[in-house]
Amino acid sequence: MNLRLMKWSAWMVCLVVGLAGCQRTEPPQFVSIPKVGELPAELQTAVKAELVKYAGTFQQPKLMTEADGPKPDLARGQTVYQERCVQCHGVSGDGQGHAAKYMYPKPRDYRRGLFKFTSTPYGARPQRDDLMRTVRLGIRGTSMPGFALLPEHDLQSVVDYVLLLSRRGELEELLTSTAESEEEVDPEAVKDDLVPTVLRRWQEGDEGEVRTLSLPPKFTSAHVERGKVAFLSKGCSKCHGDDGRGQTLENRGNDAWGQPTRAADLTSGMLRGGTRPLDIYRRIYSGINGTPMPSFASALQNEPDTIWDLVAYVLSVSNHRREGQIPPPGPNRPYLPPAAADVAPTAP
Ligand code: HEC
Ligand code: HEC
Repeated sequence: MNLRLMKWSAWMVCLVVGLAGCQRTEPPQFVSIPKVGELPAELQTAVKAELVKYAGTFQQPKLMTEADGPKPDLARGQTVYQERCVQCHGVSGDGQGHAAKYMYPKPRDYRRGLFKFTSTPYGARPQRDDLMRTVRLGIRGTSMPGFALLPEHDLQSVVDYVLLLSRRGELEELLTSTAESEEEVDPEAVKDDLVPTVLRRWQEGDEGEVRTLSLPPKFTSAHVERGKVAFLSKGCSKCHGDDGRGQTLENRGNDAWGQPTRAADLTSGMLRGGTRPLDIYRRIYSGINGTPMPSFASALQNEPDTIWDLVAYVLSVSNHRREGQIPPPGPNRPYLPPAAADVAPTAP
């Protein structure tokens, strides 16, 4: 081949590759849950049609709501989401964005309506403000960044978009399991039963903020001392370890999203759900949805002061490292790492 021909063919290759690169990529689509694919073809079509009716499509998303308040800016919400959240939380909010694979904990799959850091009782949906707070502040010690620098309108809109994905996911689950058991999709039943079921869950969350049983005391070392006793006697140390580091044999489990999880190392200095006494109170009183952290609401109903003692103890343990009390390196008691198959690679 002479030089000129080589140059020419190299140029052509570049042109072809270049043009292919310029081809319009497919617009994103909401992806169905795998269970939909197991239904007979006509039920699949019916489920998808009902879902579009109440939650729209990616191009024209709809927030399932009864409120007559100001209309959410879903177009803006979607733009912000696609720019800042999709790589972790996925187009459909399934928590399976490109970057999610190697994270621990995994980005939230919104479609179950389950959120961890809420002001509401165990099992309840979060309040809108809980989501706003998480998005503003991020979740310490995880890959979830804070977005406090975004304009207020963007924050509000992206939270509406998260609500949309969450409610859409819940309706999809209800539609699919109903189609499975009833072998039909009845649009009347969807309107009168399934949609109101989803909306009611969120309404209950909105009404159900957890108030503390007693006023927060001014913490002293006596609270911390009593908190330590309670921590060892109320079952906390079973999972979190006597020293709060979570290095116990029992400390293995799975979360509601099917991922291996462990009780928090309370000495890490990074309380995920926030460091205000009220945040810690709510973690203890209401538990953490979707994780093995149980609610102590009924166990401690008659001991309001014990809850504050525990809060004081958790705060003090959490500050140990900052105060220069570094625990010795490595496990301080027999500790078996999770079986290889359970291991989620740790976040970088
Ligand atoms: C780099 C990855 C990443 C990005 C980007 C990201 N998140 Fe997250 N997000 C996470 C992870 C990881 C969690 C789960 C943390 C946990 O379970 O403690 C999470 C959890 C959440 C939760 C659940 C909080 C709860 O109480 O359960 C919400 C809501 C959320 N993210 C919203 C957003 C929004 C909105 C954006 C974009 C503005 C965003 N995230 C961007 C990784 C990310
Ligand atoms: C059955 C195991 C188990 C028991 C018992 C338990 N926890 Fe937990 N706890 C967990 C798990 C798992 C998490 C982490 C949840 C997550 O963020 O994914 C956690 C998280 C926490 C957090 C939140 C930390 C953060 O990052 O914000 C606090 C506070 C806490 N536990 C305190 C307690 C106290 C106090 C008790 C006893 C009254 C207790 N726990 C009992 C399993 C347990």
